[in-house]
Amino acid sequence: MAAITTWIAHVFLSVLFSLAYLSVIRGRLDQDYRDQLLSSAQKDKDWLVSIRRQIHENPELCFQEHNTSALIRQQLDQIGIPYSYPIAGTGIVAQIGSGSKPVVALRADMDALPLQELVEWEHKSKIDGKMHACGHDAHTTMLLGAAKLLNQRKDRLKGTARLLFQPAEEGGAGASHMIREGALGDAEAIFGMHIDNGSPTGSITLVPGPVLAATCFFEAKIEGVGGHAAGPHSTVDPIVAASFAILALQQLTSREADPLHSQVLSVTLIRGGSAFNTIPPYVEFGGTLRSLTTDGLHKLQQRLKEVIKGQAAVHRCNASIDMKEEEFPPYPAVFNDDSLHQHVQKVGRLLLGPENVKVGKKVMAGEDFSFYQELIPGFMLSIGIRNEGVGSIHPPHSPYFFIDEDALPIGAALYTALAELYLNENEHSILHQIF
Ligand SMILES: *[C@@H]1O[C@H](CO)[C@@H](O)[C@H](O)[C@H]1NC(C)=O
Ligand SMILES: *[C@@H]1O[C@H](CO)[C@@H](O)[C@H](O)[C@H]1NC(C)=O
Repeated sequence: MAAITTWIAHVFLSVLFSLAYLSVIRGRLDQDYRDQLLSSAQKDKDWLVSIRRQIHENPELCFQEHNTSALIRQQLDQIGIPYSYPIAGTGIVAQIGSGSKPVVALRADMDALPLQELVEWEHKSKIDGKMHACGHDAHTTMLLGAAKLLNQRKDRLKGTARLLFQPAEEGGAGASHMIREGALGDAEAIFGMHIDNGSPTGSITLVPGPVLAATCFFEAKIEGVGGHAAGPHSTVDPIVAASFAILALQQLTSREADPLHSQVLSVTLIRGGSAFNTIPPYVEFGGTLRSLTTDGLHKLQQRLKEVIKGQAAVHRCNASIDMKEEEFPPYPAVFNDDSLHQHVQKVGRLLLGPENVKVGKKVMAGEDFSFYQELIPGFMLSIGIRNEGVGSIHPPHSPYFFIDEDALPIGAALYTALAELYLNENEHSILHQIF
């Protein structure tokens, strides 16, 4: 009995001693980790910049990212990283590590926007009317950079990293296609990032919980009976009906939604009539709905249809509503997992310094990263690119959008650390459960 007690005391003291020892050397280890990773990433900077410029010069839209995808595959081949292709058309899933669990996923999007670049610089888009104005060229490059770093350091990887290069984030719900074709595999968590012109290069911003909206589009057609404007009584006027419908829709967000629950309903287009003296037979209008919860979006969609049909009926018209789901699948809300938030915060502080990890802002824009989060916990963070010195100040989707390329190695290192340290911690947490 005494022997057992002594033994327990001995084990207990050893554990205490080890913990104290570990915490002393931890600071040193953290510092080494950070210095090593950041300097490896910096060594790749010229390569990262050249990849990003190639992608930037040759932007490809939603599901047409053939050359972008070929470039990534060629680079993965050169580095010697195995991958699966095609997934969702142009998508690629590269895999690094032991192949066994735990598995963590990292994601980047590859598509550009139908927009004419107005920045005059050496590596301007070579394709008229197409531009990487949302930073997907940078996201893709950062993830490729992480592939190289993870591969260099694969011996220390305590599990598997799956790198998802996905098509069609801008409206095509590429993520949902990737999922359908098995891109997530056994991944138990996923990280994604988006460049942010609001915070300086070298910093990141994080929002736990809901951060981006569930979104969808709609188009309505109100049909009446056209005729001469001098005899309105012998027509059924769809212009008046559409006007009432559009005004009535405003009450959904101002009167029906919880004021503490963010929602948006914007009517952004209206078409009807072509002459001053003729009441047209129909009017079409459309726009977008947003909500910070997916459930909120479903309710808003339902009420939108009821209000338009009801208002049309009041004015003796008929209405039909098309949610445009084929062309623009609705996106769920992006909801950042709480425990992954802790992880990203810790990794961010370690790599970039506590002063460079800030609380971000919620935005009513959409992101198809949410499809992954419907299946496994995920975290989407914002990575700063603001640098007035190089003109990196314009918001995404602006024809003047311009990226501070100093952010590329930082993003590559950050993706790498998020995966590596997630796998480390996950292994530790299994040990904790056993003891
Ligand atoms: C893709 O690459 C091929 C072969 O290099 C080239 O002919 C074609 O123009 C490229 N397409 C785009 C959209 O850049
Ligand atoms: C509305 O639909 C009903 C049923 O199809 C039809 O009888 C009526 O004429 C339509 N009214 C208008 C204004 O189009």
